[in-house]
Amino acid sequence: MKKQWWHDKVAYQIYPKSFKDTNQDGIGDIKGVIEKLDYLKELGIDIIWLSPIYASPLADQGYDISDYYSIDPRFGTMEELEELIEEAKKREMYIIMDLVVNHCSDEHEWFKKAMEDPDGEYGNYFYIMKGKDGKEPSNIRSYFGGSAWERIGDTDRYYLHLFHKKQPDLNWENPVVRNKIYTMINWWLEKGIAGFRIDAIINIKKALPFHDYEPDREDGLATCKKMLEEATGVMDFLREMNDSTFKKYDAFTVGEVFNEKKEDLPDFIGDDGCFSSMFDFNETTFGASEKGWYDSQAITPDDYRDCCFRSQRRAEGIGFLSNIIENHDEPRGVSRYIPQGECSDVSKKLLATVYFFLKGLPFIYQGQEIGMENVPFKSIDDLDDISTLDEYKVALDQGIPEDEAFKIVCRYSRDNARVPFQWDDSKNAGFTEGNPWIMVSPEYEKINLKVQREDPDSLFRYYKKLIALRKQEEYKDTFVYGTMEPVYEDRARIMAYFRKGEKQNILVVGNFQTEPQMVELSGEYCRVLLNNYDEISCEGKTLQLKGYQVLVLEL
Ligand code: GLC
Ligand code: CA
Repeated sequence: MKKQWWHDKVAYQIYPKSFKDTNQDGIGDIKGVIEKLDYLKELGIDIIWLSPIYASPLADQGYDISDYYSIDPRFGTMEELEELIEEAKKREMYIIMDLVVNHCSDEHEWFKKAMEDPDGEYGNYFYIMKGKDGKEPSNIRSYFGGSAWERIGDTDRYYLHLFHKKQPDLNWENPVVRNKIYTMINWWLEKGIAGFRIDAIINIKKALPFHDYEPDREDGLATCKKMLEEATGVMDFLREMNDSTFKKYDAFTVGEVFNEKKEDLPDFIGDDGCFSSMFDFNETTFGASEKGWYDSQAITPDDYRDCCFRSQRRAEGIGFLSNIIENHDEPRGVSRYIPQGECSDVSKKLLATVYFFLKGLPFIYQGQEIGMENVPFKSIDDLDDISTLDEYKVALDQGIPEDEAFKIVCRYSRDNARVPFQWDDSKNAGFTEGNPWIMVSPEYEKINLKVQREDPDSLFRYYKKLIALRKQEEYKDTFVYGTMEPVYEDRARIMAYFRKGEKQNILVVGNFQTEPQMVELSGEYCRVLLNNYDEISCEGKTLQLKGYQVLVLEL
Protein backbone atom coordinates (compact mmCIF):
# COMPACT_ATOMS: atom_id res chain seq x y z
CA MET A 1 0.00 0.00 0.00
CA LYS A 2 1.38 3.39 -0.96
CA LYS A 3 1.75 5.65 2.08
CA GLN A 4 -0.41 8.77 2.04
CA TRP A 5 -0.31 11.94 4.10
CA TRP A 6 -3.71 11.28 5.64
CA HIS A 7 -3.21 7.66 6.72
CA ASP A 8 -2.26 8.41 10.31
CA LYS A 9 -4.83 11.17 10.86
CA VAL A 10 -7.85 11.31 13.12
CA ALA A 11 -10.93 13.03 11.73
CA TYR A 12 -13.86 14.84 13.32
CA GLN A 13 -17.21 15.70 11.80
CA ILE A 14 -18.78 19.03 12.61
CA TYR A 15 -22.44 19.67 12.00
CA PRO A 16 -22.06 23.44 11.98
CA LYS A 17 -25.67 24.30 12.60
CA SER A 18 -25.49 22.64 16.02
CA PHE A 19 -21.88 23.13 17.04
CA LYS A 20 -21.43 26.62 18.47
CA ASP A 21 -23.42 29.81 17.93
CA THR A 22 -21.45 33.04 18.30
CA ASN A 23 -23.98 35.70 17.29
CA GLN A 24 -26.84 34.32 19.39
CA ASP A 25 -29.29 33.76 16.55
CA GLY A 26 -29.72 30.16 17.66
CA ILE A 27 -27.78 28.73 14.72
CA GLY A 28 -24.24 27.45 14.95
CA ASP A 29 -21.76 29.24 12.71
CA ILE A 30 -18.28 29.30 11.18
CA LYS A 31 -17.03 31.64 13.87
CA GLY A 32 -18.13 29.03 16.37
CA VAL A 33 -15.92 26.49 14.64
CA ILE A 34 -12.97 28.89 14.70
CA GLU A 35 -13.58 29.51 18.38
CA LYS A 36 -13.39 25.77 19.09
CA LEU A 37 -10.34 24.91 16.99
CA ASP A 38 -8.10 24.86 20.02
CA TYR A 39 -10.49 22.50 21.71
CA LEU A 40 -10.30 20.11 18.76
CA LYS A 41 -6.55 20.42 18.68
CA GLU A 42 -6.42 19.55 22.36
CA LEU A 43 -8.52 16.47 21.66
CA GLY A 44 -6.02 15.42 18.99
CA ILE A 45 -8.01 16.00 15.82
CA ASP A 46 -6.25 16.52 12.47
CA ILE A 47 -8.96 16.55 9.82
CA ILE A 48 -12.25 18.40 10.23
CA TRP A 49 -15.19 17.57 7.99
CA LEU A 50 -17.75 20.36 7.85
CA SER A 51 -21.27 19.36 6.93
CA PRO A 52 -22.61 21.77 4.27
CA ILE A 53 -22.44 25.50 4.89
CA TYR A 54 -23.13 26.59 1.31
CA ALA A 55 -26.05 28.83 0.38
CA SER A 56 -29.15 26.75 0.86
CA PRO A 57 -32.86 26.93 1.68
CA LEU A 58 -32.01 24.24 4.28
CA ALA A 59 -34.85 21.96 3.19
CA ASP A 60 -32.47 19.10 3.97
CA GLN A 61 -30.22 21.04 6.31
CA GLY A 62 -27.84 22.29 3.66
CA TYR A 63 -27.69 19.11 1.59
CA ASP A 64 -29.76 21.16 -0.86
CA ILE A 65 -27.35 23.72 -2.28
CA SER A 66 -28.54 26.80 -4.15
CA ASP A 67 -25.06 28.20 -4.81
CA TYR A 68 -21.89 26.13 -4.62
CA TYR A 69 -19.72 29.23 -4.57
CA SER A 70 -21.17 31.00 -1.60
CA ILE A 71 -21.62 30.55 2.12
CA ASP A 72 -25.09 30.70 3.61
CA PRO A 73 -25.28 33.94 5.63
CA ARG A 74 -26.75 31.99 8.53
CA PHE A 75 -23.39 30.25 8.84
CA GLY A 76 -21.22 33.27 8.11
CA THR A 77 -19.20 34.69 5.25
CA MET A 78 -16.58 33.52 2.78
CA GLU A 79 -14.00 35.62 4.63
CA GLU A 80 -14.79 33.72 7.81
CA LEU A 81 -14.38 30.43 6.04
CA GLU A 82 -11.02 31.58 4.66
CA GLU A 83 -10.06 32.55 8.19
CA LEU A 84 -11.06 29.09 9.39
CA ILE A 85 -8.90 27.44 6.72
CA GLU A 86 -6.01 29.71 7.72
CA GLU A 87 -6.42 29.12 11.45
CA ALA A 88 -6.65 25.39 10.90
CA LYS A 89 -3.41 25.45 8.89
CA LYS A 90 -1.64 27.28 11.69
CA ARG A 91 -2.53 24.37 13.94
CA GLU A 92 -1.59 21.73 11.35
CA MET A 93 -5.21 20.83 10.88
CA TYR A 94 -7.09 20.26 7.64
CA ILE A 95 -10.55 21.32 6.61
CA ILE A 96 -12.62 19.17 4.30
CA MET A 97 -16.00 20.23 2.95
CA ASP A 98 -19.08 18.28 2.01
CA LEU A 99 -19.42 17.73 -1.72
CA VAL A 100 -23.09 17.41 -2.63
CA VAL A 101 -23.30 16.90 -6.36
CA ASN A 102 -25.85 14.19 -6.95
CA HIS A 103 -28.40 16.96 -6.67
CA CYS A 104 -28.64 20.67 -5.97
CA SER A 105 -31.50 22.77 -4.65
CA ASP A 106 -34.60 23.64 -6.62
CA GLU A 107 -33.58 27.21 -5.81
CA HIS A 108 -30.27 26.88 -7.67
CA GLU A 109 -30.23 29.11 -10.74
CA TRP A 110 -29.65 26.10 -13.01
CA PHE A 111 -32.92 24.60 -11.88
CA LYS A 112 -34.80 27.86 -12.09
CA LYS A 113 -33.64 28.26 -15.69
CA ALA A 114 -34.56 24.67 -16.42
CA MET A 115 -38.07 25.29 -15.15
CA GLU A 116 -38.42 28.39 -17.29
CA ASP A 117 -37.45 26.45 -20.38
CA PRO A 118 -37.29 22.66 -19.98
CA ASP A 119 -36.29 22.27 -23.62
CA GLY A 120 -33.44 24.74 -23.33
CA GLU A 121 -29.82 24.23 -22.32
CA TYR A 122 -30.54 23.99 -18.59
CA GLY A 123 -33.33 21.47 -19.00
CA ASN A 124 -30.61 19.00 -19.83
CA TYR A 125 -28.85 19.69 -16.50
CA PHE A 126 -31.56 17.62 -14.82
CA TYR A 127 -33.65 14.57 -15.56
CA ILE A 128 -36.82 15.99 -17.02
CA MET A 129 -39.09 13.42 -18.60
CA LYS A 130 -42.56 13.15 -20.03
CA GLY A 131 -45.09 11.21 -17.95
CA LYS A 132 -46.45 7.86 -19.01
CA ASP A 133 -50.21 7.61 -19.47
CA GLY A 134 -50.78 10.57 -17.20
CA LYS A 135 -48.50 9.10 -14.53
CA GLU A 136 -44.88 9.46 -13.42
CA PRO A 137 -42.20 8.32 -15.90
CA SER A 138 -41.38 5.39 -13.60
CA ASN A 139 -42.49 4.02 -10.25
CA ILE A 140 -39.37 4.61 -8.17
CA ARG A 141 -39.70 5.90 -4.61
CA SER A 142 -37.49 8.66 -3.26
CA TYR A 143 -35.41 8.07 -0.13
CA PHE A 144 -37.54 10.52 1.78
CA GLY A 145 -40.82 8.93 0.71
CA GLY A 146 -43.29 9.27 -2.16
CA SER A 147 -42.52 9.20 -5.87
CA ALA A 148 -39.03 10.28 -6.96
CA TRP A 149 -40.72 12.23 -9.76
CA GLU A 150 -42.27 15.64 -9.24
CA ARG A 151 -44.68 17.00 -11.78
CA ILE A 152 -43.71 20.35 -13.25
CA GLY A 153 -46.70 22.66 -12.76
CA ASP A 154 -49.64 21.27 -14.66
CA THR A 155 -47.58 20.10 -17.61
CA ASP A 156 -47.09 16.45 -18.54
CA ARG A 157 -43.45 16.61 -17.50
CA TYR A 158 -41.67 15.56 -14.35
CA TYR A 159 -38.25 16.05 -12.84
CA LEU A 160 -36.32 13.45 -10.87
CA HIS A 161 -35.39 13.79 -7.20
CA LEU A 162 -34.05 10.70 -5.45
CA PHE A 163 -34.14 12.68 -2.21
CA HIS A 164 -36.54 15.51 -1.34
CA LYS A 165 -38.46 17.31 -4.07
CA LYS A 166 -36.39 20.37 -3.24
CA GLN A 167 -33.29 18.36 -4.26
CA PRO A 168 -33.49 17.80 -8.04
CA ASP A 169 -30.94 15.29 -9.35
CA LEU A 170 -28.24 16.64 -11.62
CA ASN A 171 -27.83 14.94 -14.97
CA TRP A 172 -24.34 13.45 -14.85
CA GLU A 173 -24.74 12.11 -18.37
CA ASN A 174 -24.38 15.69 -19.54
CA PRO A 175 -20.65 16.50 -19.91
CA VAL A 176 -21.34 20.20 -19.46
CA VAL A 177 -22.73 19.51 -16.01
CA ARG A 178 -19.79 17.30 -15.09
CA ASN A 179 -17.32 19.94 -16.17
CA LYS A 180 -19.07 22.65 -14.18
CA ILE A 181 -18.88 20.40 -11.14
CA TYR A 182 -15.16 19.75 -11.66
CA THR A 183 -14.47 23.46 -12.06
CA MET A 184 -16.27 24.11 -8.80
CA ILE A 185 -14.34 21.37 -6.98
CA ASN A 186 -11.03 22.79 -8.17
CA TRP A 187 -12.08 26.28 -7.13
CA TRP A 188 -12.53 25.01 -3.57
CA LEU A 189 -9.30 23.05 -3.57
CA GLU A 190 -7.51 26.19 -4.75
CA LYS A 191 -8.92 27.93 -1.71
CA GLY A 192 -6.90 25.62 0.45
CA ILE A 193 -9.30 22.99 1.69
CA ALA A 194 -7.72 19.54 1.98
CA GLY A 195 -10.49 17.57 0.36
CA PHE A 196 -14.10 16.47 0.56
CA ARG A 197 -16.57 14.10 2.09
CA ILE A 198 -18.58 13.04 -0.91
CA ASP A 199 -22.30 12.90 -0.42
CA ALA A 200 -24.64 10.23 -1.77
CA ILE A 201 -22.28 9.63 -4.67
CA ILE A 202 -23.48 6.23 -5.80
CA ASN A 203 -26.73 7.85 -6.89
CA ILE A 204 -25.17 9.79 -9.74
CA LYS A 205 -25.51 6.90 -12.19
CA LYS A 206 -29.06 6.07 -13.16
CA ALA A 207 -30.26 3.01 -15.05
CA LEU A 208 -31.51 4.40 -18.34
CA PRO A 209 -34.01 4.44 -19.89
CA PHE A 210 -36.18 4.84 -16.78
CA HIS A 211 -38.70 2.07 -16.33
CA ASP A 212 -40.94 0.48 -13.71
CA TYR A 213 -39.90 -2.03 -11.08
CA GLU A 214 -41.80 -4.62 -9.07
CA PRO A 215 -43.57 -2.57 -6.35
CA ASP A 216 -42.32 -3.34 -2.82
CA ARG A 217 -44.94 -1.49 -0.77
CA GLU A 218 -48.63 -0.85 -1.00
CA ASP A 219 -47.98 2.55 -2.57
CA GLY A 220 -47.17 0.73 -5.80
CA LEU A 221 -43.63 2.14 -5.83
CA ALA A 222 -40.25 0.43 -5.69
CA THR A 223 -37.22 1.69 -3.79
CA CYS A 224 -34.89 3.71 -5.99
CA LYS A 225 -32.13 1.35 -4.86
CA LYS A 226 -33.54 -1.16 -7.36
CA MET A 227 -32.81 1.27 -10.13
CA LEU A 228 -29.32 1.97 -8.79
CA GLU A 229 -28.45 -1.73 -8.57
CA GLU A 230 -29.19 -1.99 -12.24
CA ALA A 231 -27.07 1.00 -13.22
CA THR A 232 -23.56 0.29 -14.45
CA GLY A 233 -20.67 2.60 -15.20
CA VAL A 234 -20.59 4.87 -12.15
CA MET A 235 -16.85 4.29 -11.97
CA ASP A 236 -16.33 6.04 -15.31
CA PHE A 237 -17.74 9.22 -13.81
CA LEU A 238 -15.81 8.83 -10.59
CA ARG A 239 -12.53 8.22 -12.33
CA GLU A 240 -13.03 11.21 -14.54
CA MET A 241 -13.86 13.34 -11.51
CA ASN A 242 -10.78 12.14 -9.66
CA ASP A 243 -8.48 12.74 -12.64
CA SER A 244 -9.91 16.21 -13.21
CA THR A 245 -9.81 17.32 -9.59
CA PHE A 246 -8.71 15.50 -6.41
CA LYS A 247 -5.73 13.72 -7.87
CA LYS A 248 -4.08 16.96 -8.95
CA TYR A 249 -4.24 18.31 -5.42
CA ASP A 250 -3.44 15.12 -3.51
CA ALA A 251 -6.71 15.75 -1.75
CA PHE A 252 -8.22 13.53 0.90
CA THR A 253 -11.65 12.26 -0.10
CA VAL A 254 -14.06 10.04 1.74
CA GLY A 255 -17.07 8.71 -0.06
CA GLU A 256 -20.53 8.09 1.27
CA VAL A 257 -20.89 4.79 -0.53
CA PHE A 258 -23.65 2.28 0.20
CA ASN A 259 -24.07 -1.21 -1.22
CA GLU A 260 -20.97 -1.22 -3.37
CA LYS A 261 -20.28 -4.49 -5.10
CA LYS A 262 -17.50 -6.45 -3.46
CA GLU A 263 -15.31 -6.57 -6.53
CA ASP A 264 -15.53 -2.78 -6.83
CA LEU A 265 -13.72 -2.03 -3.57
CA PRO A 266 -10.26 -1.66 -5.17
CA ASP A 267 -11.73 0.82 -7.66
CA PHE A 268 -13.06 2.90 -4.81
CA ILE A 269 -10.24 2.84 -2.27
CA GLY A 270 -7.34 0.87 -3.72
CA ASP A 271 -4.00 2.56 -4.44
CA ASP A 272 -5.44 3.96 -7.64
CA GLY A 273 -8.98 4.22 -6.39
CA CYS A 274 -11.25 7.15 -7.14
CA PHE A 275 -11.44 8.11 -3.44
CA SER A 276 -8.97 8.03 -0.59
CA SER A 277 -11.39 6.26 1.69
CA MET A 278 -15.04 5.44 2.17
CA PHE A 279 -17.22 5.02 5.22
CA ASP A 280 -17.97 1.60 6.57
CA PHE A 281 -21.76 1.54 6.93
CA ASN A 282 -22.04 -2.17 7.56
CA GLU A 283 -23.05 -1.60 11.18
CA THR A 284 -25.41 1.30 10.56
CA THR A 285 -27.34 -0.59 7.90
CA PHE A 286 -27.63 -3.80 9.91
CA GLY A 287 -31.24 -4.78 10.53
CA ALA A 288 -32.63 -2.11 8.21
CA SER A 289 -35.79 -3.06 6.39
CA GLU A 290 -37.05 -1.97 3.00
CA LYS A 291 -40.43 -1.53 4.64
CA GLY A 292 -39.26 1.30 6.87
CA TRP A 293 -37.90 1.98 10.34
CA TYR A 294 -40.90 0.36 11.99
CA ASP A 295 -39.72 -2.99 10.65
CA SER A 296 -36.03 -2.64 11.62
CA GLN A 297 -34.27 -5.22 13.70
CA ALA A 298 -32.14 -4.09 16.64
CA ILE A 299 -28.44 -4.89 16.55
CA THR A 300 -26.77 -7.01 19.27
CA PRO A 301 -23.14 -6.64 20.37
CA ASP A 302 -22.26 -9.84 18.49
CA ASP A 303 -23.92 -8.55 15.32
CA TYR A 304 -22.00 -5.33 15.75
CA ARG A 305 -18.70 -7.17 16.03
CA ASP A 306 -19.47 -9.39 13.04
CA CYS A 307 -20.38 -6.37 10.90
CA CYS A 308 -17.14 -4.59 11.75
CA PHE A 309 -15.03 -7.66 11.10
CA ARG A 310 -16.72 -8.43 7.80
CA SER A 311 -15.87 -4.96 6.52
CA GLN A 312 -12.36 -5.15 7.87
CA ARG A 313 -11.70 -8.44 6.11
CA ARG A 314 -13.02 -7.09 2.86
CA ALA A 315 -10.78 -4.06 2.96
CA GLU A 316 -7.63 -5.85 4.16
CA GLY A 317 -4.84 -5.38 1.68
CA ILE A 318 -6.99 -3.09 -0.47
CA GLY A 319 -7.38 0.25 1.27
CA PHE A 320 -8.49 2.32 4.21
CA LEU A 321 -12.07 2.41 5.39
CA SER A 322 -13.30 5.29 7.52
CA ASN A 323 -14.77 4.00 10.75
CA ILE A 324 -17.61 5.65 12.64
CA ILE A 325 -20.12 4.85 15.34
CA GLU A 326 -22.45 7.68 14.29
CA ASN A 327 -22.86 10.70 12.04
CA HIS A 328 -25.49 13.35 11.32
CA ASP A 329 -27.72 10.76 9.64
CA GLU A 330 -27.72 8.23 12.44
CA PRO A 331 -28.83 7.94 16.03
CA ARG A 332 -26.08 8.13 18.66
CA GLY A 333 -23.74 5.13 18.55
CA VAL A 334 -23.79 4.58 22.31
CA SER A 335 -27.60 4.39 22.28
CA ARG A 336 -27.60 2.03 19.34
CA TYR A 337 -24.78 -0.44 19.90
CA ILE A 338 -24.85 -0.70 23.69
CA PRO A 339 -27.90 -2.72 24.77
CA GLN A 340 -30.68 -0.68 26.32
CA GLY A 341 -30.22 0.11 29.99
CA GLU A 342 -26.47 -0.62 29.91
CA CYS A 343 -25.17 2.74 28.72
CA SER A 344 -22.57 4.00 31.19
CA ASP A 345 -19.17 5.65 31.07
CA VAL A 346 -17.58 2.22 31.19
CA SER A 347 -19.58 0.74 28.31
CA LYS A 348 -19.15 3.92 26.26
CA LYS A 349 -15.39 3.59 26.67
CA LEU A 350 -15.57 0.01 25.48
CA LEU A 351 -17.44 0.97 22.32
CA ALA A 352 -15.03 3.83 21.72
CA THR A 353 -12.02 1.53 22.02
CA VAL A 354 -13.21 -1.40 19.91
CA TYR A 355 -14.10 0.78 16.93
CA PHE A 356 -11.23 3.22 17.26
CA PHE A 357 -8.40 0.74 16.70
CA LEU A 358 -9.96 -1.00 13.73
CA LYS A 359 -7.85 -0.59 10.64
CA GLY A 360 -8.68 2.61 8.80
CA LEU A 361 -9.35 6.19 9.64
CA PRO A 362 -11.27 6.90 12.84
CA PHE A 363 -13.94 9.58 12.51
CA ILE A 364 -15.49 11.13 15.60
CA TYR A 365 -18.83 12.88 15.30
CA GLN A 366 -19.34 16.01 17.40
CA GLY A 367 -20.48 15.13 20.90
CA GLN A 368 -19.39 11.52 20.60
CA GLU A 369 -16.27 12.33 22.60
CA ILE A 370 -18.41 13.33 25.59
CA GLY A 371 -20.79 10.41 25.17
CA MET A 372 -23.87 12.25 23.99
CA GLU A 373 -26.84 9.89 23.88
CA ASN A 374 -30.09 9.79 21.97
CA VAL A 375 -32.42 12.60 22.94
CA PRO A 376 -35.45 11.96 25.17
CA PHE A 377 -37.86 13.65 22.72
CA LYS A 378 -41.30 14.26 24.21
CA SER A 379 -43.51 14.49 21.16
CA ILE A 380 -43.35 14.34 17.39
CA ASP A 381 -43.33 18.16 17.40
CA ASP A 382 -39.80 18.03 18.82
CA LEU A 383 -38.62 16.41 15.59
CA ASP A 384 -37.58 18.43 12.58
CA ASP A 385 -35.84 16.08 10.16
CA ILE A 386 -37.69 15.29 6.91
CA SER A 387 -36.76 11.62 6.85
CA THR A 388 -37.98 11.16 10.44
CA LEU A 389 -41.33 12.75 9.63
CA ASP A 390 -41.68 10.52 6.58
CA GLU A 391 -40.87 7.37 8.58
CA TYR A 392 -43.43 8.43 11.18
CA LYS A 393 -46.05 8.61 8.47
CA VAL A 394 -44.99 5.24 7.04
CA ALA A 395 -45.46 3.67 10.48
CA LEU A 396 -48.88 5.30 10.99
CA ASP A 397 -49.97 4.11 7.54
CA GLN A 398 -49.24 0.58 8.73
CA GLY A 399 -51.81 1.03 11.45
CA ILE A 400 -49.21 1.41 14.20
CA PRO A 401 -50.63 3.56 17.04
CA GLU A 402 -49.23 7.08 17.38
CA ASP A 403 -47.29 6.57 20.63
CA GLU A 404 -45.73 3.39 19.27
CA ALA A 405 -44.80 5.08 15.96
CA PHE A 406 -43.29 7.96 17.88
CA LYS A 407 -41.14 5.60 19.95
CA ILE A 408 -39.90 3.89 16.80
CA VAL A 409 -38.83 7.06 15.06
CA CYS A 410 -37.13 8.33 18.22
CA ARG A 411 -34.85 5.32 18.10
CA TYR A 412 -33.59 6.06 14.61
CA SER A 413 -34.16 9.77 14.10
CA ARG A 414 -31.35 11.79 12.57
CA ASP A 415 -32.23 14.55 15.02
CA ASN A 416 -30.67 12.50 17.82
CA ALA A 417 -27.32 13.58 16.45
CA ARG A 418 -28.43 17.03 15.35
CA VAL A 419 -29.22 18.66 18.68
CA PRO A 420 -26.65 21.17 19.95
CA PHE A 421 -23.26 20.18 21.30
CA GLN A 422 -23.27 20.17 25.09
CA TRP A 423 -20.46 22.51 26.08
CA ASP A 424 -21.40 23.15 29.71
CA ASP A 425 -24.27 23.15 32.18
CA SER A 426 -25.39 26.73 31.56
CA LYS A 427 -28.56 27.62 29.67
CA ASN A 428 -28.84 25.80 26.31
CA ALA A 429 -25.74 23.81 27.18
CA GLY A 430 -23.57 26.80 26.31
CA PHE A 431 -24.45 26.44 22.63
CA THR A 432 -26.30 29.75 22.32
CA GLU A 433 -27.76 32.51 24.41
CA GLY A 434 -30.52 32.88 21.85
CA ASN A 435 -33.27 30.48 20.91
CA PRO A 436 -31.70 27.27 19.60
CA TRP A 437 -33.05 26.23 16.17
CA ILE A 438 -33.70 22.74 17.55
CA MET A 439 -34.22 21.63 21.13
CA VAL A 440 -31.26 21.10 23.41
CA SER A 441 -31.15 17.67 24.99
CA PRO A 442 -32.15 17.89 28.66
CA GLU A 443 -29.26 15.51 29.36
CA TYR A 444 -26.79 18.39 29.11
CA GLU A 445 -26.78 18.97 32.84
CA LYS A 446 -25.23 15.53 33.29
CA ILE A 447 -23.35 15.15 30.03
CA ASN A 448 -21.25 18.14 29.06
CA LEU A 449 -17.69 19.01 28.21
CA LYS A 450 -17.07 21.32 31.14
CA VAL A 451 -17.68 18.62 33.73
CA GLN A 452 -15.72 16.04 31.77
CA ARG A 453 -12.69 18.25 31.29
CA GLU A 454 -12.20 18.33 35.04
CA ASP A 455 -12.84 14.65 35.65
CA PRO A 456 -9.79 12.45 34.94
CA ASP A 457 -12.08 9.41 34.48
CA SER A 458 -14.42 11.06 32.03
CA LEU A 459 -15.18 9.85 28.54
CA PHE A 460 -13.65 13.00 27.10
CA ARG A 461 -10.35 12.36 28.88
CA TYR A 462 -10.53 8.76 27.67
CA TYR A 463 -10.98 9.85 24.05
CA LYS A 464 -7.90 12.02 24.44
CA LYS A 465 -5.99 8.94 25.56
CA LEU A 466 -7.29 6.86 22.66
CA ILE A 467 -6.16 9.43 20.16
CA ALA A 468 -2.83 9.98 21.87
CA LEU A 469 -2.15 6.24 21.89
CA ARG A 470 -2.90 5.89 18.19
CA LYS A 471 -0.46 8.69 17.51
CA GLN A 472 2.28 7.58 19.88
CA GLU A 473 5.49 7.33 17.84
CA GLU A 474 6.25 3.84 19.11
CA TYR A 475 2.88 2.32 18.18
CA LYS A 476 1.70 4.46 15.34
CA ASP A 477 2.95 2.21 12.60
CA THR A 478 1.18 -0.81 14.03
CA PHE A 479 -2.12 1.00 14.52
CA VAL A 480 -2.04 2.55 11.09
CA TYR A 481 -0.48 -0.12 8.90
CA GLY A 482 -0.51 -3.29 10.99
CA THR A 483 -2.74 -6.16 9.95
CA MET A 484 -6.03 -6.61 11.69
CA GLU A 485 -6.83 -10.13 12.84
CA PRO A 486 -10.08 -10.93 14.65
CA VAL A 487 -9.83 -13.40 17.51
CA TYR A 488 -12.23 -15.23 19.90
CA GLU A 489 -14.94 -14.83 17.30
CA ASP A 490 -16.83 -17.84 18.59
CA ARG A 491 -17.17 -16.26 22.03
CA ALA A 492 -20.43 -14.46 22.70
CA ARG A 493 -20.11 -10.84 23.77
CA ILE A 494 -16.35 -10.71 23.28
CA MET A 495 -15.03 -8.33 20.66
CA ALA A 496 -11.31 -8.76 20.16
CA TYR A 497 -8.65 -8.39 17.52
CA PHE A 498 -4.91 -8.22 17.05
CA ARG A 499 -3.17 -5.39 15.33
CA LYS A 500 0.13 -6.81 14.21
CA GLY A 501 2.93 -4.70 12.90
CA GLU A 502 6.64 -5.09 12.32
CA LYS A 503 7.41 -3.99 15.85
CA GLN A 504 4.46 -5.16 17.92
CA ASN A 505 1.57 -7.43 18.45
CA ILE A 506 -1.29 -5.54 20.08
CA LEU A 507 -4.49 -7.08 21.37
CA VAL A 508 -7.70 -5.09 21.74
CA VAL A 509 -10.13 -7.12 23.81
CA GLY A 510 -13.51 -6.10 25.18
CA ASN A 511 -16.18 -7.84 27.22
CA PHE A 512 -19.35 -6.48 25.63
CA GLN A 513 -21.71 -7.28 28.54
CA THR A 514 -22.39 -6.57 32.21
CA GLU A 515 -21.37 -10.02 33.50
CA PRO A 516 -17.64 -10.78 33.84
CA GLN A 517 -15.97 -13.16 31.38
CA MET A 518 -12.67 -15.00 31.10
CA VAL A 519 -10.38 -15.11 28.12
CA GLU A 520 -7.28 -17.28 27.61
CA LEU A 521 -4.44 -15.26 26.15
CA SER A 522 -2.06 -16.84 23.69
CA GLY A 523 0.91 -15.47 25.59
CA GLU A 524 1.70 -13.13 28.41
CA TYR A 525 1.22 -9.44 27.91
CA CYS A 526 4.08 -7.08 28.54
CA ARG A 527 2.25 -3.77 28.71
CA VAL A 528 -1.23 -2.43 29.32
CA LEU A 529 -1.66 0.39 26.85
CA LEU A 530 -5.24 1.21 27.80
CA ASN A 531 -7.78 0.02 30.34
CA ASN A 532 -11.21 1.42 31.15
CA TYR A 533 -10.90 0.14 34.73
CA ASP A 534 -8.23 0.90 37.29
CA GLU A 535 -7.03 -2.63 37.57
CA ILE A 536 -6.47 -5.69 35.44
CA SER A 537 -6.97 -9.18 36.71
CA CYS A 538 -4.81 -11.80 35.04
CA GLU A 539 -3.49 -15.09 36.41
CA GLY A 540 -0.93 -16.66 34.14
CA LYS A 541 -2.59 -16.39 30.77
CA THR A 542 -6.12 -16.20 32.08
CA LEU A 543 -7.59 -12.79 31.78
CA GLN A 544 -10.60 -12.03 33.94
CA LEU A 545 -12.60 -9.25 32.32
CA LYS A 546 -15.10 -7.26 34.34
CA GLY A 547 -18.42 -6.05 32.91
CA TYR A 548 -17.72 -3.92 29.81
CA GLN A 549 -14.02 -3.96 30.53
CA VAL A 550 -11.84 -3.24 27.54
CA LEU A 551 -8.08 -3.55 27.32
CA VAL A 552 -5.42 -2.68 24.81
CA LEU A 553 -2.47 -4.93 25.53
CA GLU A 554 0.96 -5.26 24.03
CA LEU A 555 1.78 -8.95 23.89
C1 GLC B 1 -26.51 12.12 2.50
C2 GLC B 1 -26.43 13.06 3.67
C3 GLC B 1 -27.80 13.28 4.20
C4 GLC B 1 -28.63 13.88 3.11
C5 GLC B 1 -28.58 13.07 1.82
C6 GLC B 1 -29.05 13.85 0.66
O1 GLC B 1 -26.96 10.87 2.86
O2 GLC B 1 -25.55 12.58 4.62
O3 GLC B 1 -27.81 14.08 5.34
O4 GLC B 1 -29.96 13.98 3.53
O5 GLC B 1 -27.28 12.66 1.49
O6 GLC B 1 -28.12 14.84 0.32
CA1 CA C 1 -25.19 32.02 14.68
